[in-house]
Amino acid sequence: MAVLGRQMCHRLSFSILFFVLIQSNVIAYQFQVGNLQAWNIPTSTDPKVYTNWPKKLNFKIGDSLLFLYPPSEDSVIQVTKESYDTCNLKDPILYMNNGNSLFNITSPGVFYFTSGVSGHCEKSQKLQISVFAADGSLPLPPSSAPGGALADSAPSYPTVFGGIPSGPAGKSSSSSSTVEVSVLITAGIGVLIWGLVGGKM
Ligand SMILES: *[C@@H]1O[C@H](CO)[C@@H](O)[C@H](O)[C@H]1NC(C)=O
Repeated sequence: MAVLGRQMCHRLSFSILFFVLIQSNVIAYQFQVGNLQAWNIPTSTDPKVYTNWPKKLNFKIGDSLLFLYPPSEDSVIQVTKESYDTCNLKDPILYMNNGNSLFNITSPGVFYFTSGVSGHCEKSQKLQISVFAADGSLPLPPSSAPGGALADSAPSYPTVFGGIPSGPAGKSSSSSSTVEVSVLITAGIGVLIWGLVGGKM
C-alpha cells in the first residue's frame, strides 16, 4: 500500500512539473501596450512609458500587442530599425489605424513601432520589443536592405495568421488575458505525460 502511494505521489509531482513547464510555453498573452487606454505621445507624468514598459515583460511567439487609441487621433506603424531611429514614417512594414490594433508576434526578432502621425515619433511615442527564439537566441533584423528589398517583401507579413477565423473585433481585454484553450491542451498533455511516466515506473 505504502509503495503504491509513493508511486502515485511521484507520478503526480512529475505531471505537475510538466504542467508548469508546458503551460509557460503554451499560454499566449495579449499585452496592452504601456498598460495604457490610449497609445499616444507620453505624458509628462510618465515620459519614458514606452521605454520602460517592455523591460519587465517577456514576449514570445504567439503573444500579441494591443494598441488602443481613438482612431481619429493616432495610428500604429511597424518600421525598420533605421526608420525607428530617424523617425522616418515613409514605407512602414505595417500600418494599423483602426484604434484597436493587434500585432501578432509570429517570429523571433526585434520589432519597432511608432505612431503614424507626423511629429509623434520625435516625442518618444515609439516602442521596441525583443522576442527571443525558443533556443534563447535573438535574430538580428536584416541590415539595411539594399534597393528596398525589405519593403517589397513586407506586405505579406501581417497576413500570416490572417486566415484564422476569430471573434468580432473590439473584444478587448486588460493587460494580459490568457487563452483558455491552452489550459485544456495543457491538461491533456499533462494527463498524457502522467500516463507515460507512470508506465515506466
Ligand atoms: C492578429 O490576429 C488577430 C486575430 O487573429 C487579427 O484579427 C488581426 O488582424 C491580426 N493582426 C494583424 C496585424 O494581422
